[in-house]
Amino acid sequence: MPEYTQIGDARLYLQDNRRMIKEVPDHSVDLIFTDPPYNIAKYSTGNIDLPNRTPLNNDIAQWDNIEVDPQEYLDDFMRVLAPKGNIFIFTTYSSIGKWHAVFDSHFDTTQFMIWHKTNPTPNIFKKGFLNSCEMLICFWNKGHQWNFSDQKHMHNYIEAPICMGPERLKDPKHPAQKPIEVLKHIIRIASNPGDLVFDPFMGVASTAIAALKLHRKFCGCEIDPLYYRAGVERVKAFYTNNL
Ligand SMILES: C[S@@+](CC[C@H](N)C(=O)[O-])C[C@H]1O[C@@H](n2cnc3c(N)ncnc32)[C@H](O)[C@@H]1O
Repeated sequence: MPEYTQIGDARLYLQDNRRMIKEVPDHSVDLIFTDPPYNIAKYSTGNIDLPNRTPLNNDIAQWDNIEVDPQEYLDDFMRVLAPKGNIFIFTTYSSIGKWHAVFDSHFDTTQFMIWHKTNPTPNIFKKGFLNSCEMLICFWNKGHQWNFSDQKHMHNYIEAPICMGPERLKDPKHPAQKPIEVLKHIIRIASNPGDLVFDPFMGVASTAIAALKLHRKFCGCEIDPLYYRAGVERVKAFYTNNL
């Protein structure tokens, strides 16, 4: 039996998601919203030193070296997703094609969207673009419903700063922690209050906090015990502070 913690409407699993997902009932998830490793460590050319800043390096963490194969997730994502459910996956230029190649033919529609970071790391050498955009790929079937308020709301980008200040966990620091505002924007569009949001690569449970703030239920999974415990503490603190 996998280890999990139930806190209010959130259930957090400590396990390899490829095993954990087998426990998730068929068609029980309204929104799969996840952030798998981008596997960019292999493009690292070592530290890029910056004056008065932490050096830049694509080798962000050991977990990023473990190759994610979308094919391993296709059958289970399709099995657990509700017939009118949605999938949103954070990705990058080197992985978006892999997700598209495996998932596209199984869904009615594929689109992408951009999170434009308003405060990216500066590029003092001016020899390339700022790394100011992160991509998401999304999939859905006919009959899905999205909660757009107007045409402006329907642009496929969002602008928001990277995680900073009190929101940014210090111990453990997660190099890929996503900002709650970005997550809430997508959860609000692609699900309804009372729906179940599932994040199988949950890190420090940012998706859980965003989902709970919007009165959705949450189920997530993380393989690293340090991140898992930090996620559990974050969800507990959310309930304590919101009572
Ligand atoms: C990009 S990070 C997610 C960060 C998250 N969005 C947040 O805001 O904290 C990807 C996470 O997936 C976890 N992970 C990698 N492979 C996994 C697996 N097979 N099962 C569960 N978690 C996994 C890593 O430990 C890492 O914390």
